[in-house]
Amino acid sequence: MAATGWHVAEKVAFSDTFRRVAKNPTTSGSSGGTVGTSDRLIWLDGALRPWSEATVHVLSHSLQRGSLVFDYMSIHETGPGDSPPRGVLIFRLREHVDRFLHSCALMGLPIEPDVEALEGAICETVRANPGARAIKISAFFASVEIDVVPIDTHVTVAIAAYDPKTDITDRLSRPSPPRPQFLKLWIEKERANRREDILSPQAKVSANYASPMTAKARARAEGYDEIILVDEDGNLAEGPTTNLFIVDDKGELLTPASEKVLHGVTRSTIIELAKAEGIPFREAPIKAADLLVASEAFMTGTTAGVWSIESVDGTEIGSVCPGPVSTQLRDRFLRVSQGEDPEFEHWLTRVED
Ligand SMILES: Cc1ncc(COP(=O)(O)O)c(C=O)c1O
Repeated sequence: MAATGWHVAEKVAFSDTFRRVAKNPTTSGSSGGTVGTSDRLIWLDGALRPWSEATVHVLSHSLQRGSLVFDYMSIHETGPGDSPPRGVLIFRLREHVDRFLHSCALMGLPIEPDVEALEGAICETVRANPGARAIKISAFFASVEIDVVPIDTHVTVAIAAYDPKTDITDRLSRPSPPRPQFLKLWIEKERANRREDILSPQAKVSANYASPMTAKARARAEGYDEIILVDEDGNLAEGPTTNLFIVDDKGELLTPASEKVLHGVTRSTIIELAKAEGIPFREAPIKAADLLVASEAFMTGTTAGVWSIESVDGTEIGSVCPGPVSTQLRDRFLRVSQGEDPEFEHWLTRVED
C-alpha cells in the first residue's frame, strides 16, 4: 500500500515536535481529561443524564477507531428589549442537523432518529441547560468491539448544550492559547493530510481531525495560530475547523470548491450574505500564491465566526487587516446570527415550547 495520510499522521503524532506541544491531559474522575465536571445535563439516547455520567467504555469502537460523527452549532440569547421576545435561538439548526445526518450516511452509521426527532431533542437539551452557548451532537458506536467493522451497530446519540468557556476551557488543567484578534496562518505543506479518496472531507467524523491535529500542533510550536491544509492537487482546502475565503485584487470573493471541503454552515452563510451585499463571488481553486497576493483573507466557522488572516507563512496579507469586504461580511454575519437582521430571521430557531 502506498504511503497514505494515516501513515504520515502516525509518524508525525509520535514525533518529538508533537510531544513537545501536546498536552498531557489529566484523567481525574470521568470527565475525560478535564479537571472539574460541569453540572449540566447531556441527552443520551432519549434521556437527560448528568454530565459526569455521559461516558463510554475505553474500548468502545468509536474511541478506538475514530468513527464518531458530530456537529456543532451556536446558541444566541436575545436581550430584554427583544420585541416580541424570542428568547434563546439556534443558528441554522436544520442545516446542521442535515449535515450531521449526511456525515452519518457517509460513514455508514445507521442512526435511528430522523431530522425532526433530532431537532426536538436538541431544543429539549438547550431548554434543560440555561446559559448554554453551543451545542455538540454526536453519533457513535458505544459497543466494545474487536473488528474494524462493528458487530453491534447500535448508534448512540448524545447531545450536549454548554458554555465552551465556563464548562470546558476554564476547567482544563492548563490555560488554552489566547485567541488572537487576527490570524497568523501557516500553509501545511503535506498534501497527504487531505485525501478525499480515503475519507470524505464532507464527513464531520473524528478520524478526519487526526492529521490536522498533528499539523496544527507543529505550526503552533512555530508561533502560528492556524493552518490551512492543501489537497492532493496542491490547492488550498480548509483549516482544521474552518473554511477559507480570499478577496482578490479585483474585489472578487473566492472560496475553494465545495467538493474539497466540509460544507461549512458559516461558509454557506457568508456566500448568501455576499450575494445579499452585492459582493461578486465564485468558487475557485486557490493556490498558495493566490492567497499570498490576496487583498484580504479570512477563515469562517461556528467558533471562528469571520476571522481575518493578517499573515501567511510570515508574509502580510493586503494593506489593511481586516479589509473592507471582510469587515462588511463580518458585521452582517454578526447581526444575522444574533437575530438582528429581519431578512435572515428564518435562519434562527426558537427553543421555547
Ligand atoms: C473541517 C472543517 N471545515 C470547516 C468547518 C466550519 O464549519 P461551520 O461553519 O459549519 O462551523 C469545520 C467546523 O468545525 C470543520 O471541522
